Amino acid sequence: MANYDILGRYYDSFMNFGTMFSDFMDKLASHYHIETDAVLEIACGTGKNLSYFSRSKYIYGLDLSPVMLQSANINIPRAQLSLQDMSDFKIDRKFDLILCMFDSINHLLNYSQWLSTFKSVSDHLLQGGFFVFDINSPYALNLPINKRTMFRQSGDDYLVIQYYNSGINQATWDMNFFIHQDDGRHNHYFESITEVSFDIYQVRDNLLEIFSQVDVVNDKLESASMEDQRVFYICRKSGA
Ligand SMILES: C[S@@+](CC[C@H](N)C(=O)[O-])C[C@H]1O[C@@H](n2cnc3c(N)ncnc32)[C@H](O)[C@@H]1O
Repeated sequence: MANYDILGRYYDSFMNFGTMFSDFMDKLASHYHIETDAVLEIACGTGKNLSYFSRSKYIYGLDLSPVMLQSANINIPRAQLSLQDMSDFKIDRKFDLILCMFDSINHLLNYSQWLSTFKSVSDHLLQGGFFVFDINSPYALNLPINKRTMFRQSGDDYLVIQYYNSGINQATWDMNFFIHQDDGRHNHYFESITEVSFDIYQVRDNLLEIFSQVDVVNDKLESASMEDQRVFYICRKSGA
């Protein structure tokens, strides 16, 4: 897996998703009654999403990248952060809400890791608690894009991303960073990230073996179709 050693250093400056997460959470809160007393985000990255829960009593985040967690520590000092693999984690408390956002689960390249993530999450949810995550669908990762190049700029720093299909249900982002130095030159760094996806209904069926309710929706919270590029799963653990 990509370790985010390079991207982690520049994640917040190059990846700005604006109010996407808070808009989604607002919509979610108006459709579902979700307690947010104790919240955990797995693969929390730089912790930006966790800032939404400033009124929660317990805010936890975990990630496998020490560099991403360093930023999270600055962005949300109140959060309890830990360096762990989301597919097999242990925290000595249970949560009302566990999140895994912005296609983080697609970073797990074997389906058995997705299944063990679902199990670990379920073990850490209170009865009646919710697990909410999104994926890049197989449809999104299979779109016939041949080496699409994207440019991003942050001050004097530049990022060139080449995005391509690297297998069935799989895509890769090759990222070249050009980081401005005091002497006016740019240092070059490279990092590559690959994501895979799995049949959206197969994922739902496996979730239903663990959770009592699973809604598969798009970003408008309408029932998802095979042609949705981003698919959200709203899973509920059965109540007492
Ligand atoms: C696209 S970023 C998303 C970060 C954050 N969820 C957000 O919405 O901004 C993906 C994150 O997944 C983390 N990650 C990838 N594989 C992981 C694993 N096996 N366990 C925990 N974190 C992982 C990466 O380190 C990175 O921080």
